[in-house]
Amino acid sequence: GAAVEVDISGLKEGEKLTVEWRGKPVWIVRRTKAQLEALPKLDGQLADPKSERKPSELTPEYARNEWRSIKPEFLVTVGICTHLGCSPSDKFVPGPQPSLPSDWAGGFLCPCHGSTFDMAGRVFKNKPAPDNLEIPPHMYLSDTRLIIG
Ligand code: FES
Repeated sequence: GAAVEVDISGLKEGEKLTVEWRGKPVWIVRRTKAQLEALPKLDGQLADPKSERKPSELTPEYARNEWRSIKPEFLVTVGICTHLGCSPSDKFVPGPQPSLPSDWAGGFLCPCHGSTFDMAGRVFKNKPAPDNLEIPPHMYLSDTRLIIG
């Protein structure tokens, strides 16, 4: 499939941009400092905190790190739940919210069967989704241009 070039210069902290790649939504999220700091504290609650499962399908080598990304600030992930393919909703705001744990640090909630993912697209334990969200192949052409695919 054709690669998609994205201008991320207008993306502010805490915002998400969605682009289409190979018929799938790809999310680019510019994470805040607080969102980044929360990530390592969640490892014990996650099914695959280090993204060791299906690495060739789900997490390219350059994203096998704490943030699952090339640049810590920017998460680039396919916005499709690894359970049955629904598209999770943004739940970036920390704290208690309906259907979320009281210590929720921000992330995504799949409306279909309740799988939850953190701000790196990592799935929480004991949820129907077996795996973390897919990180698509991508690279930066410059500080403000990204190519997906
Ligand atoms: Fe997302 Fe089932 S499709 S939890």
